[in-house]
Amino acid sequence: MKARLGILISGRGSNMAALIEAAQADDCPYAVKLVASNNPDAAGLALARASGIPTFARSHKGMPREAFDAMLDRALRDAEIDYVALAGYMRILSEGFIAGWAGRIVNIHPSLLPKYKGLDSHARAIGAGDVEAGCSVHLVTPELDDGEVIGQARVPILPGDSAEALADRVLIEEHRLYPAVLSAYIRRHG
Ligand code: GRF
Repeated sequence: MKARLGILISGRGSNMAALIEAAQADDCPYAVKLVASNNPDAAGLALARASGIPTFARSHKGMPREAFDAMLDRALRDAEIDYVALAGYMRILSEGFIAGWAGRIVNIHPSLLPKYKGLDSHARAIGAGDVEAGCSVHLVTPELDDGEVIGQARVPILPGDSAEALADRVLIEEHRLYPAVLSAYIRRHG
């Protein structure tokens, strides 16, 4: 039996698309059963719908964080989700929500954690004079971008690199890394 994966997005959804694409393989240990977003205009939602995946889209605006997260949690539970993957989900999740998914919720972050948690990781890596950047898949804990790292990919920073050019090259690695690391994690944990 494949694990039932829920993906949370807020925008473009290119990592979501990579997770969906990888799930087509017979030996992939997960199937994507719900894509949920706090942004009803997220481009990724259309892509999910085109792939025949049920979506849940509700703006968080005007709602207390806990109430919104409880609604999200209900949608995931109703879909009998086993694992949650954050893929460009641009909201801090409440502690209660995260506690309910402990060990079963992962995120991808565009830096070599523990470096550059939070926003603008590429500009910060270039500004610091780093020679390499990359991306990390990590377990989600209440502290932002702080949970155990379960996979990383490294990308050289080139002379004269802009944050945008670096982000584009790191993103290619994100799309390879996320499905591979998530699949390995699910195989280990069942
Ligand atoms: C990615 O760079 C991801 O690492 C970060 O937000 C971006 C989302 O891009 N958390 P996409 O929506 O998956 O295309």
